[in-house]
Amino acid sequence: MTEAPADGERTLLVVHHTPSPSTRELLEAVLAGARDPDIVGVRVRTVPALGATVPDVLAADGYVFGTTANFGYMSGALKHFFDTVYYPCLDAIAGRPYGLWVHGNNDTAGAVASVRKLVTGLALAQVTQDLEVTGPIDAQVRERCYELGATVAVSVSQEV
Ligand SMILES: Cc1cc2nc3c(=O)[nH]c(=O)nc-3n(C[C@H](O)[C@H](O)[C@H](O)COP(=O)(O)O)c2cc1C
Repeated sequence: MTEAPADGERTLLVVHHTPSPSTRELLEAVLAGARDPDIVGVRVRTVPALGATVPDVLAADGYVFGTTANFGYMSGALKHFFDTVYYPCLDAIAGRPYGLWVHGNNDTAGAVASVRKLVTGLALAQVTQDLEVTGPIDAQVRERCYELGATVAVSVSQEV
């Protein structure tokens, strides 16, 4: 069930497919940034892509999407998410901010392009550069993930 936010609080929904330790590490860094103590009035909800629902999306004020690159596309799990929510949410969430991270072994371009097509269709507002990560996770990557989460959370907090 989607828990109601406290009065005046906004919700950042993090929808992710994280099937490995390294992708989990990226998620944790994004969440840490989104929950930066200096960002007030934003509740961060995290939901695996295979469990995210239309009410989850409608109830949120902004989004971070995270996925692996699979065969030159977003993961099947994130694709399933968009298949589920796209038409029910079309027109209802236009203008809300989003961020995206993609992890792959060597080529994330197709995965990024596939998500871009959908967020463009949904008319979401890109508030930070897409984060493409290949290979092992280091401190610099964790920092970029933190910044991604924090930037989207700040946008959510400032939305009118
Ligand atoms: C079926 C499959 C397809 C994949 N396709 C791509 C791909 O097109 N591009 C890429 O960069 N990595 C690809 N990968 C690698 C995954 O993106 C990578 O395993 C995932 O991000 C998790 O990273 P890790 O195994 O280092 O934890 C693929 C992996 C699998 C299992």
